[in-house]
Amino acid sequence: MISKKIEKALNEQINAEFYSAYLYLSMASFLNGMNLLGFSNWMRVQFEEEQFHAMKFYDYVLERGGEVKLKAIDKPPHKWKDIIDVFEATLEHEQEVTKRINDLVNLAIEEKDHATVNFLQWFVDEQVEEEASVEEILAQLKLVEGKGSGLFMLDREARQRSFTPPQA
Ligand code: FEO
Repeated sequence: MISKKIEKALNEQINAEFYSAYLYLSMASFLNGMNLLGFSNWMRVQFEEEQFHAMKFYDYVLERGGEVKLKAIDKPPHKWKDIIDVFEATLEHEQEVTKRINDLVNLAIEEKDHATVNFLQWFVDEQVEEEASVEEILAQLKLVEGKGSGLFMLDREARQRSFTPPQA
């Protein structure tokens, strides 16, 4: 059984993960409109990953005998300046998510809930990867200044990304 405090915090995180999914789905649409179909695909995969994250929290709350209380999902932005702006916003968002995960770990430690501390470790590692992959793309985009044949190549590469649910 999880404490009410942990249950509330995990429910907020389910909402935050669904918001992330929504944000990336909005970015996928924006990039599609820019004819960057590879990057649009990349964001669509990101959308699927975030839904996976949300469901991982959802299943954990149920497994621990808690109650899932879904909340309204905020409206994400739908316009950015350019592709670099999209990835800068993505990096900033992922850094906020990392902070949220760290706050959750701190709360679980405070509550002496070792099972939740363990469960959250997967997300701690995931955030390291998430930030690193976005930083890498952002650096490449800046290298080609977000335009020209360099951008075309990067877009082709981004088209290769597909969603594979991580092993439990
Ligand atoms: Fe669910 Fe992108 O972290």
